[in-house]
This record gives sequence, structure tokens and C-alpha cells, in this order.
Amino acid sequence: MQNFTFYNPTKIVFGQNSVEQLETLIASDARIMMIYGGQSAEKTGTLKEIRDVLGHRIVKEFGGVEPNPRYETLMRAVELIKSNDIDYLLAVGGGSVIDGTKFIAAAALYTGEPWNILKNQGADVEQALAFGCVLTLPATGSEMNAGAVITRGETQDKLFFNSTHVFPQFSILDPLKTYTLPERQLANGVVDAFTHVMEQYLTYPAGGYIQDRMAEGLLQTLIEIGPRVLSAEKDDEARANLMWVATLALNGLIGAGVPQDWSTHMIGHELTALYEIDHARTLAVVLPANLSVRRESKAAKLLQYAERVWQIREGSEQARIDAAIEQTKAFFKAMGIPTQLGDYDLGHEAIDKVVAQLEHHGMTALGEHSDVTLAISRQILEKAL
Ligand code: NZQ
Ligand code: ZN
Repeated sequence: MQNFTFYNPTKIVFGQNSVEQLETLIASDARIMMIYGGQSAEKTGTLKEIRDVLGHRIVKEFGGVEPNPRYETLMRAVELIKSNDIDYLLAVGGGSVIDGTKFIAAAALYTGEPWNILKNQGADVEQALAFGCVLTLPATGSEMNAGAVITRGETQDKLFFNSTHVFPQFSILDPLKTYTLPERQLANGVVDAFTHVMEQYLTYPAGGYIQDRMAEGLLQTLIEIGPRVLSAEKDDEARANLMWVATLALNGLIGAGVPQDWSTHMIGHELTALYEIDHARTLAVVLPANLSVRRESKAAKLLQYAERVWQIREGSEQARIDAAIEQTKAFFKAMGIPTQLGDYDLGHEAIDKVVAQLEHHGMTALGEHSDVTLAISRQILEKAL
């Protein structure tokens, strides 16, 4: 196992109707800005629920953070924070609102040009406003990690930053919130969480026995509950498990002490920035092709994945690897998510554009061995055609 430091200060408040605990989670004299997305939080009654709890407090509201949050929008919130002496943020939404809030929290106290937070991947963030979250969409794990992905509309840049200063102080995880999600977002959540586990698990053996077993447990749980959350049946247990699995998939625990890949995400981000394909849907296209192209360097872990996650024990090594990749694709398809670029009417021209953007963003040596060059990324995209 590799050396590591694990730090995660986010308090998780899990359970049905846990929004009422906001009363004690936020200091009574805080000057709060509640940040949310489009219409969903209003329509579902979540905003009302929060207003009922925090009604007697100073709460300014900022709505309109879009999916794949835009820098331009977030900077408007930063201005309002400064002019209203806001000292606490409350994110109400999915990954986009929480990521947006992380950026706002850092930018509000940043002295330089705020876009540099992204350019420097958070390295020079020295402080941020404190904030908490009410999660409404289990998918990204943003509710318990210190990363955020922000898009700049004018230049089609989708960049990430990390900073220990932007861990949420707390996150409220109420599984009932998932019942208003459309099927597409539920499926996205399952596939995003699945891929987060794969980025940290499917590399090469590093003696992280417990990290491997935890990762395999998360994958198997997603395979078990994925179809259940898509069915119209009320299934509180599946909803609760989805919410907790998605959080555990990217809160740092399974990735501590083991190598990590993340090339699928980096290629996927370019597809979202260029073609506005949902984040998880880009992953479903890139991941199977990525595993297939890099099957040699990932062989040991692919065979372990085949056996322990999909119970594939028969056939030659190549046949077992093929079968595991096919099962992965079949799972994504069963969730209603296509796995080829052609399903989005994208062909060779799109590959040229994605590769050019990867180059522009310095994504030229990705993966656990830093050997995913632009040529390999191109091969992966061609495999995904
Ligand atoms: O905008 P509103 O009207 O609120 O609707 C949202 C949005 O349209 C809707 N929604 C959210 N909760 C709902 C609901 N609709 C009904 N009922 C509810 N309870 O869902 C739509 C999608 O929301 P969004 O927040 O964009 O989805 P998601 O949570 O998948 O977040 C995606 C973003 O997170 C980034 C992605 O790149 C993307 O920008 N990621 C962040 C990561 C992180 N911070 O660690 C890691 C991930 O890999 C990912 O890159
Ligand atoms: Zn993701």
C-alpha cells in the first residue's frame, strides 16, 4: 500500500426529513446565502422546507446555478456576497450547485483573478467561506469531498480545482429527496458513482486489500440497486443505499493508499464542454473503450474485477477481460445510458476536437502511469465511435 494522509472533516447527517437539523448545524448569527439551481428545489418543496427552518435567520437567496455550473453565473454570487456581508453559504442541489458553491466560497476570499483558482487547480486557495449542503441528487460525491468542476462558457473550458478549504462543513443526505428525480438523473447518478469507483480501483494491484474490497462492495451495491431505483416502485432501502454509496464512492476513502486513474473523467469533461452531454453519459462512452485500449497495463485488475464483481471465472484471460468490459457496457445500457459516441451523432470530427482540447488543457499524460498520451486518448475515442 502507498503512504497516504486521509483527511475528511465533513459531517454527514443522513436520514429522512433531516433538513430540520439545519437549525443546529448553522450558527444562529450567521449571515447566510442559500444557493440553488434551476426550478427543481422550488418545485419539490425543498426550498420551502429550508425556509421554514431558517425563516427567522438572515438568509439571502441565489438561484440559477446551471448544470455544469458556469463561472459567469458564480461570479455574480460572489459580488452579492461582498455587498451583503454574507459569511455562510448553504448549497441546495446536486453536484453542480455544490461545486458552484465551493467555487463561490473560494472566490469570495481570493485576492487574485478568480479564474486562476481553476488554472492553478486550487493550489493557491488559502481560505474560503464556510458552507454546508442539502444534497438533492446522489451522484458526484461533491457533498463529502474537496473538489469542484467549473465551466467557462465563452471558452468551452471545463476545469477542476481541489482545496482542503472547500470541504463542506456538513451535508444533509435525505434519501426521500431522490423520489422527485427524473429517471435520467437517477441513471446518471448510478453511472457516475460506478465510474468514480472504477477510476480508483481499476489500475494495478497495490496491496490495498481493504480499498479493493470496499470498492468491489460499492460496485456490487450499485449493480444491485441500479435497476431498483429506476423502477417505479417505492423502494426506500434502494434510495438510501444509492445516496450513501454515491457519497462513499468519492469521499477519498477508497482512493487513499492506491493508484488512481481519472483519464475517463478528463476525456469526459471535454465531451461535456464541447457537446453538452451529461457528465455521467460521457463516462459511459469513455470508460469501456478506455478499459479495452489499456487492457494490458490494467490486466491484473481487470481479471480481479471480472472474477470478484461479475463472477467471471471461465475462459482465457483475454476472454474474461472482454466479458467484464461487456458486462460493464450492458450495465450502463440497462440503466438507459448509451455507450458509443455514435449514439450522440458524434464521429471523427468530434474526436479531433476533443483531442485538441485535451492538448490545450495540458491533459497529455493522464492515468495511473501518466501514459495516456494524446495518441492513446485518440485511440480510446476511436474505440468508442
Ligand atoms: O437545476 P435544477 O432545476 O435544480 O435541476 C437539477 C439539474 O437540472 C436536477 N435536480 C437536482 N436535484 C433534483 C433535481 N430534479 C428533481 N429532483 C431533485 N431532487 O438535476 C439536474 C442535474 O443536476 P446536477 O447538479 O447538474 O447533476 P450532478 O449531481 O450529476 O452534477 C454534475 C456536475 O458535477 C460535476 C460534473 O462535472 C457536473 O458539472 N462533478 C463533480 C465532482 C466532484 N465535485 O467531486 C465529481 C464528478 O465526477 C463530476 O465531475
Ligand atoms: Zn464523475
